[in-house]
Amino acid sequence: MLVSSHQGSFMAKIIDGKSLALSLRENVAEQAADFSDETGIAPTLAVVLIGEDPASQIYVGRKLAACRKAGINSIEHRLAVDTTQEELLTLIDRLNADDCVHGILVQLPLPPGLNANELLNRIDPAKDVDGFHPVNVGRLSTGTEGLIPCTPLGCMMLLETVVEDFRGMQAVVIGKSNIVGKPVALLLLERECTVTVTHILTRDLDRIVRAADIIVVAAGSPGLVRGSWIKPGAIIIDVGINRITNERGETYIVGDACSEELSHAGAYTPVPGGVGPMTVACLLSNTMKAARHQYRALAPMPVDQEAVSSN
Ligand code: GUN
Repeated sequence: MLVSSHQGSFMAKIIDGKSLALSLRENVAEQAADFSDETGIAPTLAVVLIGEDPASQIYVGRKLAACRKAGINSIEHRLAVDTTQEELLTLIDRLNADDCVHGILVQLPLPPGLNANELLNRIDPAKDVDGFHPVNVGRLSTGTEGLIPCTPLGCMMLLETVVEDFRGMQAVVIGKSNIVGKPVALLLLERECTVTVTHILTRDLDRIVRAADIIVVAAGSPGLVRGSWIKPGAIIIDVGINRITNERGETYIVGDACSEELSHAGAYTPVPGGVGPMTVACLLSNTMKAARHQYRALAPMPVDQEAVSSN
């Protein structure tokens, strides 16, 4: 474990998600250029946004801008808040059938009245760049190759910058959402951490966190995790993005951990500038993975193999 050298020195390392995301995005841009050169096809992501949720508008804007910068083609479907479930299912069917579309993302949350599970389950698992389809969830839970949800994938990449060997480490995941908590717990388990998942009804959360070497907090609760809960040298990955307004009416973003109390930690991710940028970079990376996989699946068989398979 790289961070062990920080123990006792009270100099927490700040894990720079912005710069890690930048290098991943540069790598994806090279992949996209190579893919286009090799295949004559532009890797393409379809993004579906329903309604006017302001946070979703910002997130989708960032995802589309990141695609443009990386040389990934994006197709926007911005739909009215009163779009019906049937209309959305038809759109997904159309995108599934379109060989020019390699990735499909339906931005969550959906407006009330729409059934997110039914829509996510309709996406072709090969195009499911969010990794939310039950087939990809199943692959993750059995440790087999598939598309992994972007934020959990980003959390693991950030952890890998400070942890050499995960085996036997105590990891606590705060929050049991399908988007972050559950998949990140599975990824940590796959690396042979001993994983505890906590949630809103968990008792003695502070006591559980005090035993942890790794804490991933995705609770959506500003300042939930206090410095006094953190074992010296522990690593905190803060997934929270909470908008706070102070008494002067100024708004700012804070995470789920009290960052000013973490000087004795081994390392932690800042908010903003930690997990957030990695989510977008991992979406691009998943889009390339999906594009390569589909191209291989659709590419005409080499002549000699065709002869073998017809025998
Ligand atoms: N809303 C919040 N996070 C996500 C995400 O990772 N993917 C999608 N599709 N919607 C989200």
